[in-house]
Amino acid sequence: MINRDKIRLISNPVVLQNLCKMRAEDTDTQNVRIATRKITRCLLYEASKNLPLVDTRVKTPLTEFTAKTIDPNINLIISPILRAGLIFTDEAIDILPQACIRHIGMYRDEKTLKPVWYYNKVPMETPNPENFYIYITDPMLATGNSLLAAIELYTSKGIPVQNIKCICIIAAPEGIENIQKHYPDIEIITAAIDDHLNEKGYIVPGMGDAGDRIFNT
Ligand code: URA
Repeated sequence: MINRDKIRLISNPVVLQNLCKMRAEDTDTQNVRIATRKITRCLLYEASKNLPLVDTRVKTPLTEFTAKTIDPNINLIISPILRAGLIFTDEAIDILPQACIRHIGMYRDEKTLKPVWYYNKVPMETPNPENFYIYITDPMLATGNSLLAAIELYTSKGIPVQNIKCICIIAAPEGIENIQKHYPDIEIITAAIDDHLNEKGYIVPGMGDAGDRIFNT
């Protein structure tokens, strides 16, 4: 059973239209990328709701007043799981220019469906871990094993689980259950919860292999 209270399902018409396009077998690579990026932007805006705000004085052409802005003292980290997670980065650095991008390289062993690390650019100092806000991005939440490994990497540095968001586009119930079994309080932001995983670990109906469809391989 999945706990829907911890899932933020973003299904506005713009997201639904682009989701339909990115899933369709006859959408070519260029249009898969365009549709996917439009969705990532919507999801990132949603994720940003947890960022702390501060008051700042602003002078408009008419007057001076106190406005809200994202706290400039936080450490915001976008962690794309290579390779499909990269599709989030252009939109992320566009709308959240203060973010650091920390790549996480994992591939899925096709037999065991377990993640195998090949690149980790996350050995950062975390002097005030409560000041870190982490968005782990991967368009497909399938078994959830890669995402779990990424979450563990950050929680092992003392970063509170409520500061970590998993941002995906299509999630399988099995993957959500796996994540929630280990981290019941973590928030998952997604555009769709699909039907099931097939015997090869693909999400059904899904979109096929997201990396292949985005990178034309
Ligand atoms: N990864 C993908 O790219 N697609 C799936 O359906 C599952 C995992």
